[in-house]
Amino acid sequence: MAAHFFPNTFSTCSRGIFFDTLNADAPAVLHFPIMGMARSREAPCGLNRHRLQSLMQREQKKFIDQRPKSRAVFERASKSLLGGVPMNWMTKWAGAFPPFVREAQGAHFYDVDGHRYVDFCLGDTGAMTGHSPSATVTAVEQQLSRGITHMLPSEDSIWLGEELQKRFGLPFWQFALTATDANRFSIRLARHLTGRPKILVFNWCYHGTVDESFITLQNGASRARRGNLGPPVDPSITTKVVEFNDVPALEAALQTRDVACVLAEPALTNVGIVHPAPGFHEALRELTRKHGTLLIIDETHTICAGPGGFTRVKNLQPDFLVFGKPIGGGVPGAVYGFTKQLAKLISERLSLEDCDTGGIGGTLAGNALSLAAMRATLQKVLTKEAFARMIPLSERWTAGVRETITDFTVPWSVTRLGCRAEYLFAAEEPRNGAEAHDAMDFELERFMHLYAMNRGILLTPFHNMALMSPVTEAEDVDRHSKVFRDAVRELVV
Ligand SMILES: Cc1ncc(COP(=O)(O)O)c(C=O)c1O
Repeated sequence: MAAHFFPNTFSTCSRGIFFDTLNADAPAVLHFPIMGMARSREAPCGLNRHRLQSLMQREQKKFIDQRPKSRAVFERASKSLLGGVPMNWMTKWAGAFPPFVREAQGAHFYDVDGHRYVDFCLGDTGAMTGHSPSATVTAVEQQLSRGITHMLPSEDSIWLGEELQKRFGLPFWQFALTATDANRFSIRLARHLTGRPKILVFNWCYHGTVDESFITLQNGASRARRGNLGPPVDPSITTKVVEFNDVPALEAALQTRDVACVLAEPALTNVGIVHPAPGFHEALRELTRKHGTLLIIDETHTICAGPGGFTRVKNLQPDFLVFGKPIGGGVPGAVYGFTKQLAKLISERLSLEDCDTGGIGGTLAGNALSLAAMRATLQKVLTKEAFARMIPLSERWTAGVRETITDFTVPWSVTRLGCRAEYLFAAEEPRNGAEAHDAMDFELERFMHLYAMNRGILLTPFHNMALMSPVTEAEDVDRHSKVFRDAVRELVV
């Protein structure tokens, strides 16, 4: 188990402001997140909870004082939007309210108060291309005046099918609007083709809002994940969950031969980064084949490894592959591909009369605008050359963070996958989801994010991830290295 600095004792930490705004008539009340009971416990290098909390208070005040316009907009928004935001997880940003965006371009954006930010969150991968890449914008502008959606194929779909074949090595492709849907459709097909009821996921995975995937392991037993709202059925009925890199557990779960598919990120990216152990992917493929289970590799985030994702870097052989988020440069679009053998089986089992009611679809899926955006993005933005720029920047970001961790001897670590990097509050790199999750420290994480935001840097709100775009600059990275160092220095003095 990776040692971690502060056990997270603040699981009940709430952001009062958002609860207050549930009552639309009540004015939004600005007050700082409650930090729970202070701990006097000190870590060996001098970090303590009292200090963290007083730094957090100082940073919250700075955040609020410097953003009068965002605050005013947020107060207005709170009268018509739940929590004052268009999407509930936007409440998770570390400030007392989210900075409202005026404009984003490339690797930067401005908020309504005129602050400029280096964006390492990049729409949590949706804008890994950089914001509004010109090739995508041009293609979208041209398509806008030629029809947005018509439920008939456009020729861009063929270019895409052929390009996806080359990138990922799978011969047949279909389109969806989100990676969540692409995962759901792949799962449905896997169930349909195998006639098996269950799926298997890895502990602390995230694959979008796929009902079956909201499950975790607790003391060896599978349980609905905390925060899972109104699940249609108990996910332990639909899903088996094992730790990433745990081959014996995987074998035990598959040998009952009731698992239609394994849905896996090839490296976990949603609980920090967890790399596969040597031999894990070989075992995963061998065991899935041995027990008649199909393998869905979800490359939505691991596309950061290169133009063909982790699959191409490591020559994986999935039955299905899913890719979404940045594929359209931020314009909604996603794809899922499968083998020739599966394509034949699917075709044989599809009835023409019922093919529009099979639980796979979406009126706007495969629309002309998405297709045009995806084509331009793959052709001109997420290119081999772009990755050759992005990956060294990520190495630079990692080196900057590592230097501070070493110099201040904080028991943290930093890990990288292609153009994605992440620091964790654990001295050792985690070997599975549980270790990565145990290293999380919501309070410390929020401080690091807020400190960075107050100095013009945006990290993903969910953990400590930074992503490089094709237009991120070395000076952006160096700015983060400096701000990270300053934050750690303040924590440990
Ligand atoms: C690995 C992975 N797959 C799928 C998704 C779902 O993407 P979307 O929310 O665009 O449907 C996510 C979202 O974070 C993800 O991380």
